[in-house]
Amino acid sequence: MLRFDQVSFRYGTTRTIQVVSLEILPGEFVALLGENGAGKSTLCRLGNGLLKPSSGTVWLQGRDTKTIKTSRAARSVGYLFQNPDRQLCQNTVREEILFGLEYALGDTEDRAGEKERRCQEMLDLFSLDGSRAPFGMSRGERQQVALASVLARRPPLLILDEPTTGLDYRECMTIMGIIARLHQEGTTILMISHDMEVVADFAERGLVLSQGRLIGDGPIKNLMKNPVLLNEASLLPAQIPALALALGPGFEEVYTVDAMYALVAQLKGGPQGQVALQGGGHDRSA
Ligand SMILES: Nc1ncnc2c1ncn2[C@@H]1O[C@H](COP(=O)(O)OP(=O)(O)O)[C@@H](O)[C@H]1O
Ligand SMILES: [Mg+2]
Repeated sequence: MLRFDQVSFRYGTTRTIQVVSLEILPGEFVALLGENGAGKSTLCRLGNGLLKPSSGTVWLQGRDTKTIKTSRAARSVGYLFQNPDRQLCQNTVREEILFGLEYALGDTEDRAGEKERRCQEMLDLFSLDGSRAPFGMSRGERQQVALASVLARRPPLLILDEPTTGLDYRECMTIMGIIARLHQEGTTILMISHDMEVVADFAERGLVLSQGRLIGDGPIKNLMKNPVLLNEASLLPAQIPALALALGPGFEEVYTVDAMYALVAQLKGGPQGQVALQGGGHDRSA
């Protein structure tokens, strides 16, 4: 889906991305992790063809991003900006969702029905009122409008730059629930996130970026229990993997609230599994 071959990038004179090679396969859910200024957003903009590498090659679905137009790249990859206000440009939610579709589907009359259908699908999915003005909405709602406008085009690869930052718990779970469903249906996801709990719950693989270099790439489970690597990238592990690591032998395979609960109940000799956690494993309040 996406391949970086020895990619470097500089804004002016400072090298922001330093000789990064990586590959993202169809259907993967990959988290991109790293401290502020590590180069995560830059890496994503190289991935969607908005930026071209200073050296090396970025392949998007087998095509060199230097040789394809950004508009063509946009058909392969949907990109959610770190700040939704960089993305929103229309007066109503409905116009915002239709705006991207105009370019994806063209302007012919026979496509009008399809555009309306997809727009309505997004309004229903996010429970949005199409007549509202995005700029009068909360940050969380604007984030959802921006995501809806991206998803309406049904891109096979989704690059999400901190999709849950600044959202409350309920908004975060709404957005992550939708992203998880798209992933189950086959969409490839590359998601930047600072929220290690969200990453632990949803992503399968993690890339760790530090000062423009890729210093880690592997299953999220392994990253969460690698304090040396996390420390190098100024990241804190999610609470349950950190607790499991501290508890030591017997807890090696514990990564989720559900698994921790089950094992503790078992060790206590209690009726394992009889007391269900309210709301399931993704409900941190449980
Ligand atoms: N448009 C730009 N022009 C010049 N420098 C930039 C620009 N965007 C980002 N940078 C610099 O590149 C580095 C990486 O930024 P960024 O990719 O936004 O990191 P992250 O998303 O990991 O916080 C930072 O030092 C930042 O100041
Ligand atoms: Mg960023």
